[in-house]
Amino acid sequence: MTQNPFTNRPSASLQARGKTADGDAVCDAESRAASDGTKVIVIGNEKGGSGKTTAAMHLIVALMKSGFKTGAMDLDLRQKSLTRYLFNRQKWAEKQGTGVKDLPFPVFIPVEASEDDSRARSREIETERFAETMGRFADCDYLIIDCPGANTHLSRLAHAHADVIVTPMNDSFVDFDLLAKLDPASGDILGPSLYAEMVWEARQKRAMSGVMGGIDWVVLRNRIGAANAKNKKRVGDKLKDLSDRIGFRLAHGFGERVIYRELFPMGLTLLDLGQGGVPRKLSSMTHITARQEIRAFLLTLKLGKSTKKTDQQTQAA
Ligand SMILES: Nc1ncnc2c1ncn2[C@@H]1O[C@H](COP(=O)(O)OP(=O)(O)O)[C@@H](O)[C@H]1O
Ligand SMILES: [Mg+2]
Repeated sequence: MTQNPFTNRPSASLQARGKTADGDAVCDAESRAASDGTKVIVIGNEKGGSGKTTAAMHLIVALMKSGFKTGAMDLDLRQKSLTRYLFNRQKWAEKQGTGVKDLPFPVFIPVEASEDDSRARSREIETERFAETMGRFADCDYLIIDCPGANTHLSRLAHAHADVIVTPMNDSFVDFDLLAKLDPASGDILGPSLYAEMVWEARQKRAMSGVMGGIDWVVLRNRIGAANAKNKKRVGDKLKDLSDRIGFRLAHGFGERVIYRELFPMGLTLLDLGQGGVPRKLSSMTHITARQEIRAFLLTLKLGKSTKKTDQQTQAA
């Protein structure tokens, strides 16, 4: 059994006859097999406002523009920001008469939370809904799942089914605190925090499910500012230390840029600028640098080649 890297002992929750701490949020090999060949990328962090939805939307558009058939699932059932982002994109395209060639749209299937009074029954219902929805993305090359900034049953399910977990975090020690605790006096890493534990559990669940391959975890620094170079370096150094210890890869981060906030109402991303029907162009060095940052992030993910045909390709054939 894999050891917890911080305590060097097996997880107590997993010692209990192979059961997981939360009982039922396991990686279901059957629903993974149903979507065999679909690479599942989960965007998660228990911190709200760290850039999950922004990263998810840019990833979705980048994949579609590379010719991949891409699915999108929004598990932030309270805020539904990815759903709103995609809705805005659709409305924008309709208003401008822009076709899917210029403004591609992913396969989007909503998931509803259970309102059952019984917690156990509610989890059962959500587990069924999640498995059924996963199956409906079976013809996609990629499925991007945007998670809430909270530890919900659906979010744990998504993490346990991930091939890749992408964790955007603000470039600060407040966000770092969700990955690991630091000794206030020495600055040494003391142990894992909430979100690192959640990823670790997800890795265990996946290993126990018999699904081939592990979970690749990528941490993405977001909103990196030009100012406060000292803090930037300290956060960077600590993240490097931690990445070896708990097994994540560090992606090239995104800078702090107003453009990310401006594009949401139109449902656009930096990758759409300059396309037909999109009024804004890549107008400044800032936009070009931002686009390079996104490309660097995509390179870190080591995305493969498309094995499935997009609807456009099927129609053209
Ligand atoms: N690199 C960035 N620069 C500036 N604003 C950003 C950046 N990344 C995200 N934002 C903004 O921060 C807010 C929170 O981002 P969001 O992606 O919704 O986070 P989350 O999904 O983790 O809650 C949004 O208004 C978004 O436009
Ligand atoms: Mg969000």
